[in-house]
Amino acid sequence: MIFTSTSPDQTKQIAADFSKTLKGGDIVFLEGELGSGKTTFVQGAAKSLGYDGPVRSPTFTIVNIYPTSNRTIKKIVHVDLYRIKDSSELRALALEELAQDTNSITFIEWPNLLGSLLKTNARRIIFGEEGLKRKIIIK
Ligand SMILES: Nc1ncnc2c1ncn2[C@@H]1O[C@H](COP(=O)(O)OP(=O)(O)O)[C@@H](O)[C@H]1O
Ligand SMILES: [Mg+2]
Repeated sequence: MIFTSTSPDQTKQIAADFSKTLKGGDIVFLEGELGSGKTTFVQGAAKSLGYDGPVRSPTFTIVNIYPTSNRTIKKIVHVDLYRIKDSSELRALALEELAQDTNSITFIEWPNLLGSLLKTNARRIIFGEEGLKRKIIIK
């Protein structure tokens, strides 16, 4: 499905609708350049799944975990691999274990940096910038 978003709020709404299709244990890959709206999308999804706090790209920690008030999806794992330096740093995150948790949803920004790790049938969302608009492709 292809969406055009003209505002951050619209991207959040698209994310909120999408998040209703998720179930515990799902992994979502978010692909696209800096500023294309990946983190904004996670904000919308997290809110709709029952997390009210702030959502920022986990710049220094690489992984943030948000508890939710959702009955089945109890936490959201938000990963941003942008600053990953090498595969040992990647392994240290133990993403496979985190992502296996059937009580959580895992969102991964810059999944291309996973290399061969976490071979999975993740949902893929691709973000593109078109002037002031954002194109969001949900695979
Ligand atoms: N339609 C839109 N959807 C999402 N973000 C938008 C949109 N239009 C403008 N923006 C701006 O683009 C930036 C997106 O940032 P962010 O979500 O952090 O991107 P990323 O995580 O992909 O680097 C924000 O500053 C936001 O205000
Ligand atoms: Mg981001």
